[in-house]
Amino acid sequence: MEKIEVAGVHYVKAVEVESLASKSSRAFTIDLGEQGGCDGFIVREEGGALRAYKNSCPHTGAPLNWTPDQFLTISGQYIQCSIHGAMFKTQNGECFAGPCGGKFLKALSFVEKNGIAYLALQEIQKNPSI
Ligand code: FES
Repeated sequence: MEKIEVAGVHYVKAVEVESLASKSSRAFTIDLGEQGGCDGFIVREEGGALRAYKNSCPHTGAPLNWTPDQFLTISGQYIQCSIHGAMFKTQNGECFAGPCGGKFLKALSFVEKNGIAYLALQEIQKNPSI
């Protein structure tokens, strides 16, 4: 698993994002074995900004996506859970409609380098001292 260090923080490769079009999303899975792991996704907003969230609905903890990389509404403007239809803002993961209204998706710290998104290792380690 490719790792990088930026400003003293360690990151691990999550997914390629250079080809990710605006108003679309892409899933990733990081498995570090005993050190931990993470199922997450990246959204590219209309303006080009990238956001990363854990793939877990605050309603039941279920994965959010409809199909492998599809986390967004048809318009591409909002994140929507495929189970009971909760809607979330891409900007901060806030649920504004549905059964978990007012709750938030877990935002993940990451950096983009050379078209690749790298997730902060501290987000996924079960035991940061390992
Ligand atoms: S599991 Fe996501 S809205 Fe119910």
